[in-house]
Formats: sequence, structure tokens, C-alpha cells
Amino acid sequence: MVVLGIETTCDETAAAVVERRGEGRGRILSNIVLSQTNEHAVFGGVVPEIAARAHVEALDHVIARAMAEAQQTFDKLDGIAAAAGPGLIGGVIVGLTTAKAISLVSQKPLIAVNHLEAHALTARLTDGTPFPYCLFLASGGHTQIVAVRGVGDYVRLGTTLDDAIGEAFDKTAKLLGLGYPGGPQVEKEAARGDATRFDLPRPMFARPEPDFSLSGLKTALRLEAEKIAPLSDQDVADLCASFQQAIVDVVIDRLRMGLKLFREHYGTPTALVAAGGVAANQAIRKMLHRLAIESGTVLIAPPPTLCTDNGAMIAWAGAERLAHGLTDPLDTAPRARWPLDETAGAHTTELTHRTAPASLT
Ligand code: KG4
Ligand code: ZN
Repeated sequence: MVVLGIETTCDETAAAVVERRGEGRGRILSNIVLSQTNEHAVFGGVVPEIAARAHVEALDHVIARAMAEAQQTFDKLDGIAAAAGPGLIGGVIVGLTTAKAISLVSQKPLIAVNHLEAHALTARLTDGTPFPYCLFLASGGHTQIVAVRGVGDYVRLGTTLDDAIGEAFDKTAKLLGLGYPGGPQVEKEAARGDATRFDLPRPMFARPEPDFSLSGLKTALRLEAEKIAPLSDQDVADLCASFQQAIVDVVIDRLRMGLKLFREHYGTPTALVAAGGVAANQAIRKMLHRLAIESGTVLIAPPPTLCTDNGAMIAWAGAERLAHGLTDPLDTAPRARWPLDETAGAHTTELTHRTAPASLT
């Protein structure tokens, strides 16, 4: 089964062709990601209108490259998948409408994929991870702990009540003048800083429900920075190290609770799976690895290029759904909000709003 996947929910214009073999193994035939980072960097965050326009300009070329590299033609495909949400609505409309057009012309089924489901199923593309597993999804727009029990069967165990972890990294970077996107920059500075210098809070510590809250940490960091301004290079590094350590401590604590809840309801998970851009952070990956061992399971963390947004994850989720006979009509609507677990309560972060500057949101 060969599926084209299209991703346009945020600031990456991406298309990929993925094959799903009979026994459920995956193979990436092409995976083209065009990042809009340069267009948004000057604003310090993603500007939705600029993102939508950039998707319109780039998507046709990105799809053509993905098809050429995979040596495919539309008539050879088994399905056309696109991320239909959640995300910035202008971008989602561009990707989904393009997928509908290709589906109509080539007479191949459309699969409207939930972007979060695509992150959730990536570990099956890379490692063939069997169900059920415990997913830690941490990106610029989402921070969730999810029990992944089967294709289309997700239970959200925990989420953030305010900022997403990636968003907290991005805001920290912006505050310290480190540029956008912030995660990699903060990680780089943290490597030469003293993590014990600033005593930052660990919000939600030891609370039984595995939720996150990060806005207090962000405020505490700002107050510490203001106290010692103007900041030297060493101050910036120490602030980054202290911030990253606080995040690592919070994630360990919250995931311990999440894994406990998972075991109570669904038994031992086959793996702790990491997904989303934040999973590219080496300090966080190391900690997740230790936590998985401590919890009697293993860590599956896809390579960083498949943790951040890409088309291969959309194509793969499309193939997994297609294998279950799940396709969608051509009048399927794009969705800005689309919780993975429809029964879970809605939180503001489901909007996938990244750190667009206040004056522009
Ligand atoms: O999954 P992703 O590419 O896009 C979203 O769906 O949001 O994640 C991007 C987020 C950004 O907030 C970025 O700062 C963060 O992931 N990120 C990192 C690192 N690399 C990317 N955060 C911490 N450490 C990193 N190395
Ligand atoms: Zn994402």
C-alpha cells in the first residue's frame, strides 16, 4: 500500500510517500520538508497569515518533488492523506484542499488525518511498535500523555493547562534574545550553564493527575532575569540550564504519574514513545530513556527529523487508517481544533497556536 501524505498545519510545508507492507512494516520512499523558519524568524514566532500564503506558494512543488523522488505517479498510489487539523486553519485548508483535488482527479481515496494521530503512530513507522504504548507528545503546540491502544483508539491521560513545552522553550529564548525557534538555542546555551544557579519552580509536582502547567515557570524565569539585568553571556547560559533542568524534572514527575495511570488501566505499555519537536532535546531524551528503564519498559524515540513535523508521519497514519478501511468523503471539513481523544476536556492549547508575538495574535 503506497500513500502520499501532506502536512501544512503550522510552519512546515511537507509531502512524503510512504509504503505500508502487508505485515504492517513501513518504508519511507520520499520525505520532503520545507521549513518557513526564515519567513517567521523576524516576528519571533509563527504568523498564521504568512504561513498560509507560504504553503500556497510551495506546496505544489514540494508534492512534485516527493512524487519524483519516490518514483511514483498519482495513478499508482493507493490513497491521498492530508493533515486535516488541528492547526492554523489557513494552512490546513491549503493542504486538505490540495489533497482533495488530487484525490478527485486520480480517483484515489482521501484520508483526513489528525496531525496528533500522525505524531502518535510514527513509532510504528520507524520501529513497528505494537499497541498499547504510552505516548509523550511534546511540541510547540501540544504537551500530552496519551495511551495509544490501537489505530483510532487514544485515551488522553494528561495535558498542559496553559503553555506547551516547546512554546515555553520558544518564549524563554525570546526573552533571552536567542532567536526563533528557541528550543535548539536554549539547549545549546544550557550545555555550558550552571543548572543549580537559579531556583525555579517545578509546577504541578507530585500531583496525581499527570497534567502540566508551565506559565508559572516562564514568569519565574522572567523575574530572575529582570533581577540581574543586564545579562552577561554566562547569565544567559545559567538561566537556560536552570530552565531546562526544571523542565526535565517536571517531565519526569508528570510522566511517572502518567505511566502509573497507564499501568492501572491498560497494563504494562510495550514502550514509552516520544514524539514532537521537544523530543529532539538530548537532555530530555536521556531522561526519558532512564525513566523507561525504571518503569520496566523501553524508550522509542524516532529520529529528530521524524519527531518534528513532516509528511511521512501523515502518509503513514493515512496508510494505517486505510488498512482499517477508514477513508473520508471529499466534503470533509478542515479543523483548527481536533482533540485526539474526543472524550477528553478541551484545553486552550488544542488550538496549536505557537508563539506568534502578542501584537499579531
Ligand atoms: O513538532 P514541532 O516541529 O512542531 C509543532 O507541531 O509544534 O515542534 C516544534 C517545537 C518548537 O517549539 C521548538 O522550539 C521545539 O519543538 N524544539 C525543541 C528542540 N527542538 C525543537 N525544544 C527543546 N529542545 C530542542 N532541541
Ligand atoms: Zn506537530
